[in-house]
Amino acid sequence: MKAIVLEAAGKPLICKEVEKPALAPGEVLVQIKAAALNRRDYWITIGKYAGIKYPIILGSDGAGVVAEVGSDTDQHWINKEVVINPSNNYGQSDNYQGADFKILGLPDDGTFAEYVKTRAEYLHPKPTHLTWEQAAAIPLAGVTAYRALFTKAKAKKGDKVLISGVGAGTGAFALQLAVAAGCHVFVTSGNGEKIERAKHLGAAAGVNYKAQDWAEQLKLMVHGFDIIVDSALGTGFAKFPDLCNPGGRIVIFGGTAGNIPPLDGRKVFWKQLQLLGTTMGTHDDFTAMINFVNQHQIGPIVDEVFCFKDAQKAIDKMADSSQFGKIVLQNL
Ligand SMILES: NC(=O)c1ccc[n+]([C@@H]2O[C@H](COP(=O)([O-])OP(=O)(O)OC[C@H]3O[C@@H](n4cnc5c(N)ncnc54)[C@H](OP(=O)(O)O)[C@@H]3O)[C@@H](O)[C@H]2O)c1
Repeated sequence: MKAIVLEAAGKPLICKEVEKPALAPGEVLVQIKAAALNRRDYWITIGKYAGIKYPIILGSDGAGVVAEVGSDTDQHWINKEVVINPSNNYGQSDNYQGADFKILGLPDDGTFAEYVKTRAEYLHPKPTHLTWEQAAAIPLAGVTAYRALFTKAKAKKGDKVLISGVGAGTGAFALQLAVAAGCHVFVTSGNGEKIERAKHLGAAAGVNYKAQDWAEQLKLMVHGFDIIVDSALGTGFAKFPDLCNPGGRIVIFGGTAGNIPPLDGRKVFWKQLQLLGTTMGTHDDFTAMINFVNQHQIGPIVDEVFCFKDAQKAIDKMADSSQFGKIVLQNL
């Protein structure tokens, strides 16, 4: 089969012929119709990710048709249109992932290929209202944003929610989920056009985090936030405790802009704020996210679709963060 292979850090992705995976009992082979990028794929291409091994077929997000199954009991999946949950072996606890947790696309070969091998338990029916490209855009960002907002931060109708870096795949998804849940959503972005796009998707307003006074601008718009969803950290994070309402929740799952800077701890304890870390999600989070997407007929934001053979161009686009939402690869 053809696959997009990364042979070493810093080398361009190449399209080459590799062996089609063989199946063990419980495993299934999905013929990929579309795959999507996550920042994780970019981090791996530049060698900045834990546990990297080469060569590797990248890709955590994929949608396609089940082509083969390894067990008779999984026969009913044959020819079914599916999306794949990349959050594998989450473990026994609903609160955190276990020691055997892994993400599709490293260490196991991922979705940037004609076929991907996964286990039947990670298959979910593709939402019928979505194109292949939209369906492929869902899994990793969808489950991460869903768990951050609902499982961890307990978002509910009427909550004031700030989503920082809304142009991110995860940020755009968090916006769509929070708007659908009836939250009052505000955003930050480093790009004014992305703030306008967020407003079209239901955000009340937004500010540019590159402005010196971005936090003051937000304070003029909103008295305080019940929830802040952030995947950037960096110096701007220091303003979050001040922007929160008493009892507020700051939920984080990435560090695109650096680490957590020194914070005003007095604001954290006096307002009884909660700092919540989260990573991807459980089987139940994924199922609930897909149900939510179906119930609210959410169409994930696809920024641009590249051919598989142009995967390197897609990674280059992610490197400069010019996208709004998800970058998708189409398997022809
Ligand atoms: N732990 C997990 O389970 C998990 C899951 C998914 C992602 N992540 C992590 O979360 C981060 C986002 O992932 P992704 O795939 O959504 O990335 P992405 O699509 O590449 O988005 C990156 C975005 O970061 C935003 N950004 C950059 N600097 C910022 C700053 N100083 N303040 C606020 N936002 C800033 C930009 O938003 P604008 O374009 O709007 O400026 C940019 O578009 C990555 O670090 C990723 O590794 C972790």
